[in-house]
Amino acid sequence: MHHIKCKNPVSSTESNLHSLSLPPPMEPRIVLITGCSSGIGLALAVKLANDEQRRFKVIATMRNLAKREALEEAAGDALNDTLEIKKLDVCSESSIRECMDSLPGRHVDILINNAGVGLIGPIECQSIDDMKGVFETNFFGVVRMIKEVLPDMKRRRSGHIVVISSVMGLQGIMFNDIYAASKFAVEGFCESLLYQAMKFDIFLTLVEPGPVVTEFELKTNEEAMLGDYSKTDPETVEMFTNFYLKNTKAIFSSLGQTPAEVAEHVLHVITMEEPPFRHQTNQVYTPVTALKYADPSGELVNDILYKLVFHHDTLMQASLQAIKFIRWKANKVQQGARMLGLI
Ligand SMILES: NC(=O)c1ccc[n+]([C@@H]2O[C@H](COP(=O)([O-])OP(=O)(O)OC[C@H]3O[C@@H](n4cnc5c(N)ncnc54)[C@H](OP(=O)(O)O)[C@@H]3O)[C@@H](O)[C@H]2O)c1
Repeated sequence: MHHIKCKNPVSSTESNLHSLSLPPPMEPRIVLITGCSSGIGLALAVKLANDEQRRFKVIATMRNLAKREALEEAAGDALNDTLEIKKLDVCSESSIRECMDSLPGRHVDILINNAGVGLIGPIECQSIDDMKGVFETNFFGVVRMIKEVLPDMKRRRSGHIVVISSVMGLQGIMFNDIYAASKFAVEGFCESLLYQAMKFDIFLTLVEPGPVVTEFELKTNEEAMLGDYSKTDPETVEMFTNFYLKNTKAIFSSLGQTPAEVAEHVLHVITMEEPPFRHQTNQVYTPVTALKYADPSGELVNDILYKLVFHHDTLMQASLQAIKFIRWKANKVQQGARMLGLI
């Protein structure tokens, strides 16, 4: 719980007055989501728009409306009812403003910053422009969006800002140097902004998924396969192409969540009375991130991760296979229970 209600009587009166201008509780909450052309954004937009209690009106945005078909299909009857598709590029202030200006009263109750891009590989082989591109979307994209909605949320003394961060915003992973840095930047930004948000009764939540099976992994891996690795040494190329890429595939297939699972977590977070500041969606990663806090010198987590990657590769592969099997079995049990009407 991060939210401390304002105890100052003047502010609470202000807060009460402002709450009078809020829509009545039964009115759907306006949720704006970025990056809805695929993956988590698409699944989340569809999930919220099809809410049985009709608690949300979803503004599902994407930078390229030519990609709207998949969302339109998945949205079904919710399209143009509880779900509206709009153009928004998080790298363009004018695009953000245009989208916001098209909303009645520029009103957004819940902003979900989901748009993001990946970048993997040895840094010697990545251009500074490519790295800046990742920050433009993953970090400045979030900053631009929050800058746009914050003044109004402050005025109304209500609102919820959600950022789809990553466990890589808490713990760096080999060959994800720039991506992890962009998510760390987002985490530091939100940690600092949180206190202002609390003062204005605005909730702020970082959702931190582990691996999620979306186009993200495909796109990032495809780009990596086509990469030019002549600027680095053969040992690094070997580590990246034969070792990292191979292990990542195994990790995604054994630990990866579906976009729908992540959407379920976000739904849970935005319907909580006191949403948390951080929410991890994949329990498998919680011990890894906890290790970091257990030993501030970093020795513990770095030693374990190094050994796991370079000394116990076979053990890691075996554990991943075991987890994959257990999850497959659990899924089957759940399906059976559902068919029998037990859950
Ligand atoms: N997949 C994972 O393993 C994973 C794990 C942890 C966190 N995440 C985070 O989850 C979020 C969603 O990723 P995903 O896995 O769902 O990947 P995805 O399927 O590739 O979706 C990313 C979305 O972001 C959009 N986007 C990219 N640049 C944009 C821009 N400038 N303006 C607006 N939209 C833009 C993409 O649009 P286009 O179709 O136009 O490119 C796409 O709709 C990202 O922030 C990612 O970092 C993903």
